[in-house]
Amino acid sequence: MINKTIRIALTKGRLENKTVDLLDKIGYDVSELRDKGRRLILSIPGENIEVVLAKAADVITYVEHGVCDIGVVGKDTIMEHGGKFFEISDLGFGRCKFALAGKKGGNFYEGYGVKTVATKYPAVTRNFFESKGMDVDIVKIEGSVELAPLVGLADGIVDIVETGTTLKENGLEVWEDVAPISARLIVNTVSMKLKQERIAEIVKQIEENL
Ligand code: PRP
Repeated sequence: MINKTIRIALTKGRLENKTVDLLDKIGYDVSELRDKGRRLILSIPGENIEVVLAKAADVITYVEHGVCDIGVVGKDTIMEHGGKFFEISDLGFGRCKFALAGKKGGNFYEGYGVKTVATKYPAVTRNFFESKGMDVDIVKIEGSVELAPLVGLADGIVDIVETGTTLKENGLEVWEDVAPISARLIVNTVSMKLKQERIAEIVKQIEENL
């Protein structure tokens, strides 16, 4: 017998509140989600839906392994992490972009030497420069990537830009857009077949309330 409970993995943090608002708008009882304390597994009463809260890359891992049927995760994580799942819809929130940035007034493409790029997203950066046929050295940084060009570690950065405030306040600017980003709904490939009806119903409810 197939377990009929649908388990949804939500990205903790920035996307979390927007996703909970969306579930609320559908008419689900999100009281546990709004008052979760430190709990990581929450239920939506009366819907046979369980919600788990995870870090972005782990949302993909849980969905790929089939322990969660549905996931809500940023396109940034999907582009960096990849994986085998269906990307069903663009939820339209969590909008920002990947951009190549560096010191204000600078030009990444001038000169002949191989350039160094600092980023939290080495796969996205590699793909971007490969598509241009350009060889760059990539340095993986864990956070506050804007620091790297300021202290001379890199010629430029590939990072997420939302309002542009972090770049501006540090004397940096966008040199080139790399890719737009927003929250996406992903579904496990096996769940898509075995729990087709219920998943289609939930996806429809979500899309109607975007
Ligand atoms: C992200 C990104 C930028 C900032 C951009 O960092 O890496 O630093 O947000 O936002 P803005 O354009 O609105 O200023 P995040 O806060 O996720 O943390 P990080 O320092 O770990 O990268």
